[in-house]
Amino acid sequence: MVGSVGNGSMDLREKEKVEPLPREFDPEEIVRPKPPLETEGVGGEEGSGKSREIVLGRNVHTMCFAIKEPEADDEVTGEREAYMASVLARYRRSLIDRTKHHLGYPYNLDFDYGALGQLQHFSINNLGDPFIESNYGVHSRQFEVGVLDWFARLWELEKNEYWGYITNCGTEGNLHGILVGREVFPDGILYASRESHYSIFKAARMYRMECVKVDTLVSGEIDCTHFKASLLRNMERPAIVNVNIGTTVKGAVDDLDLVIKTLEENGFKDRFYIHCDGALFGLMMPFVKRAPKVTFKKPIGSVSVSGHKFVGCPMPCGVQITRLKHINVLSSNVEYLASRDATIMGSRNGHAPIFLWYTLNRKGYRGFQKEVQKCLRNAHYLKDRLKEAGISVMLNELSSTVVFERPKDEEFVRQWQLACEGNIAHVVVMPNVTIDKLDSFLNELLRHRSCWYQEGNISPPCIAADIGEENCCCALHKK
Ligand SMILES: Cc1ncc(COP(=O)(O)O)c(C=O)c1O
Repeated sequence: MVGSVGNGSMDLREKEKVEPLPREFDPEEIVRPKPPLETEGVGGEEGSGKSREIVLGRNVHTMCFAIKEPEADDEVTGEREAYMASVLARYRRSLIDRTKHHLGYPYNLDFDYGALGQLQHFSINNLGDPFIESNYGVHSRQFEVGVLDWFARLWELEKNEYWGYITNCGTEGNLHGILVGREVFPDGILYASRESHYSIFKAARMYRMECVKVDTLVSGEIDCTHFKASLLRNMERPAIVNVNIGTTVKGAVDDLDLVIKTLEENGFKDRFYIHCDGALFGLMMPFVKRAPKVTFKKPIGSVSVSGHKFVGCPMPCGVQITRLKHINVLSSNVEYLASRDATIMGSRNGHAPIFLWYTLNRKGYRGFQKEVQKCLRNAHYLKDRLKEAGISVMLNELSSTVVFERPKDEEFVRQWQLACEGNIAHVVVMPNVTIDKLDSFLNELLRHRSCWYQEGNISPPCIAADIGEENCCCALHKK
């Protein structure tokens, strides 16, 4: 067999020439434009032929680069290569433009990983446990463990007491953290503030856990008075609590110490598990003075953070750290891997740990500290300028998420890729968001806004319920 490899590929080409494609496979069919979407579930009966209802007003039809099946003699002409090169070049130009006009999502788009280009040729996969090598040798566990050690040190958990892994994203960290909590307290109730990320509620659904949504303060922080009342209604069952280290929309940081105090003072001592969702600010908080400290010296069970947000990894990834003792309960050995299964996913991106390792080495603790200070300064700049212009705006003290009145025009929202909810929008100031970029955004916003509200027939919305009366500049609340 081995000796026939060279001939084998010749044979294959010959075979392709003579053997027709299966009847059911029609290449033209795949590239032909699709008919308009039919109604599916939401907003109409399946197969009714009615067009799909636009749910959030943002269902922009994504254009698509269709796959073109190669002609038999395509290899000779090289046309295919030229076609693909032109598609990629066009795509690259659009990425440059979209990167330039991005403000709404907490992604740090400022990085240079040119040095890692040489690794693109390898299929690096860390399937299994980071600390137990599997039989698949093309892995990057040596980088993964280096990164995990760094985070365990940051959150003050000894090397021999922690376990963790590099996840595919913050959501996976949350799914893992809540699962660990459920394994520790199988009859526990999940408590999470209403403003928690949707992945927390997804975890509750996936694991069929009873979940109590706790009210929030105007800032977006968990309301510990309501938390206490909720706990008291369920005294007989342990508590699994999600604590937000930065909520998605308002960037609010839950008061971890107050959450712990509330649990301990109300009869839950040693009967609770806390997962800290630090997807957004998990790596910023350690560098913010007066921020509640996230540390395993406190009775928390796990912390997760996204790697593509503040850290600036070019592909989605995240870090999950928990206590080793919890994992020993959760995991099982898998013979075919020769490793242990304690992660949510099977195959795991082996490139991501190298990107994280690279950026942590380059920037280090001090580099991140400087970037956090810059983000907070620039966030204050944006808030002050919006306020001066008479626009409703709020910025939480420990946050770089600037929440303000939703721009009236959806085209403007899309142009700057703002994240919106109801009448509010936000800009998340990440290290790539410079004063120049903020100025061009502000100038454009003010120019458009003077047209939107020119006649005085319509006025900017009241968003006092979202950001507090003191921050609202609507006709009723402006001073
Ligand atoms: C608070 C919070 N948790 C979790 C997530 C999910 O992170 P990811 O997008 O990395 O899955 C987000 C995403 O924005 C978030 O804001």
